[in-house]
Amino acid sequence: MEIKVRAGDITQAEADAIVVNLFEGEQPGGATAAVDKALDGAITRLVENGGIKGKSGEVSIIHTLGKLPARMVAVAGLGKRQDLDLDKVRGVAGGYCRSLRKLNCHRIATIVHGAGIGGIDAEASAEAVVEGSLLGLYSFANYKKPEYEDIAEIVIVEREGDKLPSLERGVCKGKILVEATSLARDMVNEPANHMTPSRMAEIAGEIAGKGKLGINIFDSSDMETMGMGALLGVSKGSNQTPKLITLSYKGDESSERAIGFIGKGITFDSGGISIKPSKDMAEMKGDMAGGAAVMSALSAIAQLRPKINVVGIIPATENLPSGSALKPGDVLKAMNGKTIEVMNTDAEGRLILADALSYAVKQGLSPLIDLATLTGACIVALGTGYSGAFSNDQKLLDKVLEAAGRAGEKLWRLPLPEEYKEQNKSEIADIKNIGNRHGGAITAALFLGEFVDKTPWIHLDIAGTASSSKESGYVVKGATGVGVGTLVELALSLAEGGICT
Ligand code: BES
Ligand code: ZN
Ligand code: ZN
Repeated sequence: MEIKVRAGDITQAEADAIVVNLFEGEQPGGATAAVDKALDGAITRLVENGGIKGKSGEVSIIHTLGKLPARMVAVAGLGKRQDLDLDKVRGVAGGYCRSLRKLNCHRIATIVHGAGIGGIDAEASAEAVVEGSLLGLYSFANYKKPEYEDIAEIVIVEREGDKLPSLERGVCKGKILVEATSLARDMVNEPANHMTPSRMAEIAGEIAGKGKLGINIFDSSDMETMGMGALLGVSKGSNQTPKLITLSYKGDESSERAIGFIGKGITFDSGGISIKPSKDMAEMKGDMAGGAAVMSALSAIAQLRPKINVVGIIPATENLPSGSALKPGDVLKAMNGKTIEVMNTDAEGRLILADALSYAVKQGLSPLIDLATLTGACIVALGTGYSGAFSNDQKLLDKVLEAAGRAGEKLWRLPLPEEYKEQNKSEIADIKNIGNRHGGAITAALFLGEFVDKTPWIHLDIAGTASSSKESGYVVKGATGVGVGTLVELALSLAEGGICT
C-alpha cells in the first residue's frame, strides 16, 4: 500500500473513491461543500432528508455517475464537532477504509479530517489518517488468503500547497508507527507453535539488523550464570529453550543513561501444573503481547531516532506442564536474591518479570516501564477498554498517561497499597506468587514492585487490551498491538524530537 500527499482539489482526484466528511447536525462545509456542489447538492439533500446524519463511524456512499472523475464519494461521519479528537479521526479512517475495501476500491483519495474547521493540527491529523487507515485494514494473512483485496493507494489531498511539508511529516511518523504496531499484531496473532522464544529472538535479530540496535540473546546457561532462577523455573516444563532478549537503542551518545522497556514474553501460557481450563486456552498464544510491544516499539524508535537511550528487555519462555515442570510449593530464587514460593504455576508472568526487572535494575536503567498480559483480575476490574497502570512515581505516571493519550491508548491508574503487601507474604520464602481472591491485579503489581528497588517504575497490565474480540474503528479482531504507541510516544517525549519532526 502506498500513501501519498498531494496538493490539489479533491473533487478532481482520479481515484475509485474520494472521502469527505460531515459533522453531526451540521451542513457540508469546506471540501465536502465543494464535492456537494459538483454533485448538484446531493449531500445537502441527503442531510436534509436524514439519509446522512454525520454520526461518528457512519460511512455514506454516493455514486457519482460520471459527475466527478471518481466512481464514488464516501461521506465519513465525524460525530459532534466538540467531541472530535485524534483518536476519533483514527477510528473514522479505519471504518471508511474497510467499507471501501469491501466495495472493491483500490485507489482512495481523502482530505485530512478535522484539520480546517475541526481545529485539529493538520500534521497530527495526517498521522492519524495514516494510522487509522492502515491499522483498520490490517489482517493476519499468514495461513489463509484475506477475504478482500487490498487497497493499493491512499492519496491525502490538500488544497493549500504550503501545508504539504507538515502533512508529509505526519505521514512519515504514521507509517513508522503502523509498521511497528502491525509487527506487534503479527507476533501476537502468530500461533505458539511458530512464535516460540527462539522465533522471538530471531525477529529481535532482524529488528536489530535493520535499525542498527545492540542485541543480546541470553539462553538458559547464561540465565544460570546470572542467577535468574525464576525465569528458569517457569521454563523447566517446556522443551523450547527460554531466551532473554535485549535490544538497545543509542540515540544520545553524550549520555550513559538509558530507559528500560520490559515486556512479558510467555509464548504460550497453559498455566503449567496449575493448568488452565481448556476453554479459551488458545488465546494464551498471545501472552507475549508485552514482549512484542517492546520489540516493535524499539523498531519504531530506531527509525524515528529520538535523542535518548532505550533498552528493551524481553524474557521469553513457554509455560507448560510436564515431568520437569515447576510445581506448586516449589521455591525459586530470583536474580536479586529474593526467594519466591510458587503457590500457583499460572502466576508465571510475575516470575519471569521478577528476573527481567532485577536485570534492568542491575543495568542501571531508569525509569522502567513494563508491559504484561499479567492478570485476568485486571480485565475484571477495567474491562477490555483500559489497561491498568501502576506506578511508584507520580511524575513518570503523568508522562506515561500523556504519551498514551497521544497514542490513543487508554490507561487507568490502580493503586499500590502498602497494606495489601501482606497478601504476598510466604511462610517459608521472602514472597509468594499469589495473593488472596480479591484485588489480583494489584497484588501482582505489588509483587513486581519487589524487584524494581527504588527505580521510578510503571507497570501496565494489558491482559484486557492486547486482543479484541470485535472489529471497531482501527481495531480489528485479534491482536491490537497495544503498548507500541505509548512506548514510542514516551521515548519521543523524554527525548528531543526525531527525524519526522
Ligand atoms: N496470562 C495470564 C493472564 C491473562 C488472563 C492474560 C486472561 C490475558 C487474558 C496470567 O499468566 C495468569 O494466568 N494469571 C492468573 C493469576 C492467578 C493464578 C493468580 C489469573 O489472572 O488468573
Ligand atoms: Zn498464567
Ligand atoms: Zn500468563
